[in-house]
Amino acid sequence: MSSATLKIAALAGDGIGPEVMREALKVLRAVGQKYSLNLHITEAPVGWAGIDAAGKALPDATLEVCRQSDAILFGSVGLPDRDPTIPKDQRPERAALLRLRKEFSLFANLRPVQLPKALAHACPLRPERQGDGLDLLVVRELTGGMYFGQPKKTEEVIEAREGHEGGPRRFLRAIDTMVYTEPEIERIAHVSFQAAQLRRKKVTSIDKANVLENGILWREVVTRVAKAYPEVTVEHMFVDNAAMQLMLKPTQFDVVLCENMFGDILSDEAAALAGSLGMLPSASLGNTSGEKTFGLYEPAGGTAPDIAGKNLANPIAQILSAALMLRYSFKQEAAARAIEAGVSAAIAQGLRTGDIYNPADAAAKKVGTTEMGDAIAGAVAA
Ligand code: IPM
Ligand code: MG
Repeated sequence: MSSATLKIAALAGDGIGPEVMREALKVLRAVGQKYSLNLHITEAPVGWAGIDAAGKALPDATLEVCRQSDAILFGSVGLPDRDPTIPKDQRPERAALLRLRKEFSLFANLRPVQLPKALAHACPLRPERQGDGLDLLVVRELTGGMYFGQPKKTEEVIEAREGHEGGPRRFLRAIDTMVYTEPEIERIAHVSFQAAQLRRKKVTSIDKANVLENGILWREVVTRVAKAYPEVTVEHMFVDNAAMQLMLKPTQFDVVLCENMFGDILSDEAAALAGSLGMLPSASLGNTSGEKTFGLYEPAGGTAPDIAGKNLANPIAQILSAALMLRYSFKQEAAARAIEAGVSAAIAQGLRTGDIYNPADAAAKKVGTTEMGDAIAGAVAA
């Protein structure tokens, strides 16, 4: 029981965002009732919805709502087919999502990947490679590396190329720089080791130390940080090999620690193992001050415009993101677990949205977004 106000900014965004957010808020309110949580939820537009409402992907008023909150429950943003002419720094992906990550120093991105036994059919790997079900956690550095390196611009240069008739020619050149400092690597390494302590006590740190200066530093710093966690096994793996190992033997991984770009790529690959992006939540955490950890919580998947507005989307990733929010930002472990148990109950009842439906399973019942949300909210309230 707690009477402290839990201030939440709910930014549904585009595509399936509003539909899955509606179900997550439904479940959140059910768990709030049950555990007497004093929820204070403010909804605000973001993404194309922000551009439509206030001319910006992250309207000032929305940013202010976030600043006044302790956590952001985020849906998804970006509609690739809407206005390709908009300047890239105004596009929702950069202007809203990357901006929020930087604005709130959300350097630690946790992406749990789980394949429940009941959904084994959705995994693209052969059953013998799935072990007893998959369970790994990608810890991705989120505010450094190539995503935020300077200069990030396109330059025109003039170059004379040998064998090129007609003399000097103009070329375009794009430069992205990968920058990491020791403290940036240290703090994300600590997050990964602390997460491993609560799991199977293994960290696989990903780098490209055979080629990149950044990779060498990454490996050095992670090795140093590992000394503070003697009970955790640390292993270093080149990113290309990691991509292969994830397909060959995913059960060898517990916590996978990555810099920003490698984490972006490997987390999508890992997510594929769970069969559907529609099941996977994520947490992006900033610094912890006292009791509070500011965080942004969002589904691993995107806006899925092809199924938007049709009551087809799987709301579970958004609902589990709300559970992570209760756990990490509000330290409401019992309430977080109640949501996770509600999701397991709905799966155990055989309820399946289209993305996880197996026609060969006689006990499976195909349902829509709202039915899935209702079932989970009902299980939470029971
Ligand atoms: C993700 C996404 C984002 C990223 C995009 C939408 C900017 O792919 O959260 O993984 O690259 O970080
Ligand atoms: Mg990505």
